[in-house]
Amino acid sequence: MKILVTGGAGFIGSAFVRLVMAETGWEVVNLDKLTYAGNLENLAEVESSGRYRFVQGDIADQAAVGALVAETKPDAIVHFAAESHVDRSIISPEPVIQTNLLGTFRLLEAARLNNVPRFVHVSTDEVYGSLPAPEEATEKFPLQPSSPYSASKAGSDMLALSYFVTFRMPVVVTRASNNYGPYQFPEKLIPLMIANALEDRPLPVYGDGMQIRDWLYVDDHCRGILAVLDKGRAGEIYNIGGNRSLPNLDVIHKLLALAGKPESLIQYVKDRPGHDRRYALSSEKILRETGWRPKVDFETGLARTIEWYRANAPWVARVRSGEYRNYYERNYANRV
Ligand code: NAD
Ligand code: DAU
Repeated sequence: MKILVTGGAGFIGSAFVRLVMAETGWEVVNLDKLTYAGNLENLAEVESSGRYRFVQGDIADQAAVGALVAETKPDAIVHFAAESHVDRSIISPEPVIQTNLLGTFRLLEAARLNNVPRFVHVSTDEVYGSLPAPEEATEKFPLQPSSPYSASKAGSDMLALSYFVTFRMPVVVTRASNNYGPYQFPEKLIPLMIANALEDRPLPVYGDGMQIRDWLYVDDHCRGILAVLDKGRAGEIYNIGGNRSLPNLDVIHKLLALAGKPESLIQYVKDRPGHDRRYALSSEKILRETGWRPKVDFETGLARTIEWYRANAPWVARVRSGEYRNYYERNYANRV
């Protein structure tokens, strides 16, 4: 088995590559542009393997993608590459549209023209938009994306599914909830709050902090994708949730307690425009059809994640130098 992974130098993609390399004998080709979010340090443990190959490139580059798919003839494409951050998609939507929509289209075309037997499009629960309690989105729920990021993911989901309907291409779409774990870029809630707390810096809470997210440990997500790659039915969507819904403030209280840091670090700041109040997912379908369920409970996963960031301060310092400072300034300076 040979798989082509896109975005394998990012947070979830690199966890997936490490898992596949550790637990299967498959060959892995990793296509990644190495944007601010891509980091080859995340793949240090696999880079010398003869079963692994890294290719730097843009999924929106038609010629490069076409040539790579034709040359590698993968048994499956697992498509993670995306501009993945909501706040950045609000500050600057252009790269989001370019990568998430046009890039996904280029990959689908290359897969179609080369008869790739399997295509997993990795998507998100954000496409369902904000849901009132106690609703949980099933795969049949309407799409109501709020941000340029979630709208681009909803659009790319639709495009991917159209390739099944129109061309009978064996596409499956996964929609996961909020991931957390080691190697996550410190722009997302949990790694940002951990990184700031460990340095006794303020924790910027948007609005009242009562927005609800469902938390999924990254390795559980990757095992869910493997389950769908193996058993998912072509043309189908599979939700992958952590079954652990929490208001952001609860997450932050737990995190501060585990890190041994004071609540006085919490700083309420101006809300995110168009901020979704509540995400909630039903993962009943993936359980029924593949037997997958999340294994890592939130408190264990959070403690493990804090320990990883504590032990990897040089990684954090490197990714927070340069471009990150400009982003932080742009996103947070006029919020306080
Ligand atoms: P990430 O931002 O950490 O990594 C994205 C990776 O894609 C990076 O390595 C980056 O270099 C690469 N990339 C970006 N644009 C590219 C391009 N044009 N060509 C090639 N490579 C490119 O993202 P993540 O959090 O690991 O998310 C991965 C996928 O999972 C995304 O599709 C995202 O929408 C989805 N997802 C994320 C979450 C979450 O909580 N992080 C939850 C559900 C779904
Ligand atoms: O739900 C899945 C999605 O989860 C993925 O598709 C996205 O790729 C991923 O970025 C994530 O989106 P969110 O917008 O939910 O994640 P984020 O970590 O940016 O924010 C989580 C919550 O925390 C949200 O309610 C906003 C809030 N927040 C976030 C940041 C960065 C704050 O209060 N302060 C912050 O500084």
